[in-house]
Amino acid sequence: MDHLDKLYQAYNAAPEIFHAGRYWKAYEAKIVDEVRNADYSELRSGKYPIFSTFGFNDLVYHYHPTMPAYVKLARQVVRNLFIDNRASLPYSLRLEDIREMAYQYTKAQGELAQAPGIETVETSLYGNPQDVFSFKGKSYTTKFLTMYVRHCFVQKYAHLTGNETIVELGSGAGQQVEVLKKLYPNLTILCFDLPAQLFLCEKYLTNALGNDQVTSSEFNLQVTDLAQLEKGKVHMLGNWQFPLLKQFTFDVFWNAASFGEMEPGIVANYLSYIKGNCRWIYLMQARKGKESTAETGVVKPIVFDDYQTMIGPDYQLIKEDDAFDANRRVSQTGGYFQALWRLK
Ligand SMILES: C[S@@+](CC[C@H](N)C(=O)[O-])C[C@H]1O[C@@H](n2cnc3c(N)ncnc32)[C@H](O)[C@@H]1O
Repeated sequence: MDHLDKLYQAYNAAPEIFHAGRYWKAYEAKIVDEVRNADYSELRSGKYPIFSTFGFNDLVYHYHPTMPAYVKLARQVVRNLFIDNRASLPYSLRLEDIREMAYQYTKAQGELAQAPGIETVETSLYGNPQDVFSFKGKSYTTKFLTMYVRHCFVQKYAHLTGNETIVELGSGAGQQVEVLKKLYPNLTILCFDLPAQLFLCEKYLTNALGNDQVTSSEFNLQVTDLAQLEKGKVHMLGNWQFPLLKQFTFDVFWNAASFGEMEPGIVANYLSYIKGNCRWIYLMQARKGKESTAETGVVKPIVFDDYQTMIGPDYQLIKEDDAFDANRRVSQTGGYFQALWRLK
């Protein structure tokens, strides 16, 4: 049995509450199929639109996996003819200007947070990112800058020294982990996710950070005590292994654009294993909940106040704000919040 099969075997044997909710079930079969056949050196090139649903979206132009082919083609033609790098946007903007503004905004956020500067780190080029550009000899993508900006929100209040332990659920492509480990090399990070996403995240991080920095989810299937995990490394774990956190204390729980795509009962179950065990809880989610229709999306959207209620009275909300990418407000339609709670 190969690595991915082993992860699925363990996942399928786990209680139903650890299985994907309706929102993610809709993508599951297609993701697994693509993961099995993909050329990993093209993860970030736009060749696999389905992977952009969980973070491999270092793209300039985004094509949603469910977008009809003729819409993709029409968009591509318009973009090639009128946008690319011509000053055809308002204020004579070119792609280069947008990138430079994103970089300058990111740099300023780092200074405000008193974090190690963005100029000290750069993105891995693994997966052939479509949106790659350089400043002062270092490579960036807007996605990488965004992950840096997200960390600044946390760093402003949590003042990480670099020796902390962070638990991320729903790491997706793993680029938040990449940024954090490059800025603070001694961090210990535990990444939990659904099997196919975890498998691909592991592929990305072993290349972006180096094999010696990451312990494999295949090996970690045997783990029974998280305290035995090696400090200073990134550890890949299946989401169904979350109950192991019940006996584990750590510094920051991190969940971005992920809880909102689950059902309230699934989120409450995850939170039950970490509440009281970590000093900080960072969430970045759709403020009014994710899309929901009779057949698609989440069954019951979770809004900001629901998170506050689920986190409960033992945590104090330290800061809540609208969430921004490096280059724009996150989701111009619904709006996302970023918030940080501290254990009282
Ligand atoms: C939109 S992606 C966000 C990825 C990353 N955090 C980011 O901000 O780019 C949502 C993530 O949540 C994970 N996820 C969705 N449902 C889940 C569940 N029931 N249990 C664990 N992870 C889940 C997905 O696999 C995916 O990695």
